Amino acid sequence: MKNKIDVAVLGLGGMGSTHAGAAKASPYVNKIYGYEPDAERAALRGKELDIEATSDLDAIMNNPAIKLIYIASINGVHSAQAIRAMRAGKSVLCEKPMGETLAEAQKMVEVQQETGQFLQIGFELHYSKIYMQAKQWIDEGLIGTPVNCHCRYYCSEFHSKNSWRSNSTGTLIGEKLSHYLDLQRWFVGSPVEEVFSMNAPNVVDYFNHPDNHQINLRFANGAAANLNFVMYIAESDHRDPLLEMLEKQSDDGHTLTYYIFGTKGAIETDVFRRRIRRWVFTDSPERLVSAIAETITYDKAEDQIWIHNTHGQNVHIAELVATGMAPENPVTDSFETMKVGFAAEISEKERRIVKLSELN
Ligand SMILES: NC(=O)c1ccc[n+]([C@@H]2O[C@H](COP(=O)([O-])OP(=O)(O)OC[C@H]3O[C@@H](n4cnc5c(N)ncnc54)[C@H](O)[C@@H]3O)[C@@H](O)[C@H]2O)c1
Repeated sequence: MKNKIDVAVLGLGGMGSTHAGAAKASPYVNKIYGYEPDAERAALRGKELDIEATSDLDAIMNNPAIKLIYIASINGVHSAQAIRAMRAGKSVLCEKPMGETLAEAQKMVEVQQETGQFLQIGFELHYSKIYMQAKQWIDEGLIGTPVNCHCRYYCSEFHSKNSWRSNSTGTLIGEKLSHYLDLQRWFVGSPVEEVFSMNAPNVVDYFNHPDNHQINLRFANGAAANLNFVMYIAESDHRDPLLEMLEKQSDDGHTLTYYIFGTKGAIETDVFRRRIRRWVFTDSPERLVSAIAETITYDKAEDQIWIHNTHGQNVHIAELVATGMAPENPVTDSFETMKVGFAAEISEKERRIVKLSELN
């Protein structure tokens, strides 16, 4: 294979392991390097993942054969590491969020524009079939104009006490809900103008941030969206509910659904039922009539590619970089999603509607 590149993964935890696995699966990747700040952990994880790992970040940045860097480190260093990599001439796939502050995210965009480097944010749900199918039905006009989009996401507390996630001042809006806000923007296809968000008092008292959010969006075309998230109802499980245990978690409190209501029909995605379906609305002399027009289900073995396709995204990103293609999701678009999340945080703190234009 021509065009083979060397790649590096920064942060060799759970997601770093997924990124290293995807790099191994790519025919465009030659050698895989890894980075962890602690030398002992670098050695341990390098061995476990069977890659060459180091605690010397300069060695990664100064290695001209490394063309692509996957950033899977903790959120507080995403922006600084992406900026450093782009300035070192590397292409970057950076996990969400684009930092924990608006300024960090903004800086990433500025440096991408200044360097012209490839930078894509890991909004992998754009590569997950259940959401791609919803987007396809919308683009085919099968539900008319989307006017209302509701997401419900309830899960167990699986971040644990004294982890970087529970101790973070960055909220779960960036860490987790940015994916789901991003999808709402993708489905509705109109700029977000206003954000109003509320959070109730915490049940998980050892989190340094809220454990629940009710985020409302108003789009420029008049459409509305709501995202309702709670992180304590389901039977406790210490693993990512999107990755594993779907079977066990079904009907134990875990919920992850979208309802996208359009002028001519509607779509429902339901992760725990492994199902996507759509309705068609028609007129009749008496009233508006609604009928289920199509239902697609899939097998347990296909969970990953339907609901959480980071692997597929990353294999594809290696090909894009090796063959000199542009990112498929421009970073400016991902930044709009981040802005919606930061607006929701301001809205919760200041108990008011926040216009997105205030963040410009
Ligand atoms: N796209 C998704 O669906 C998805 C899912 C899970 C995690 N993520 C993202 O991936 C990132 C990592 O999450 P995780 O679940 O692997 O967490 P994790 O705790 O399993 O791993 C984080 C790793 O980063 C290392 N680390 C700490 N400081 C670092 C630094 N300065 N530079 C490099 N590495 C450092 C830690 O030692 C640890 O090995 C997070 O940004 C998270 O938001 C995305």
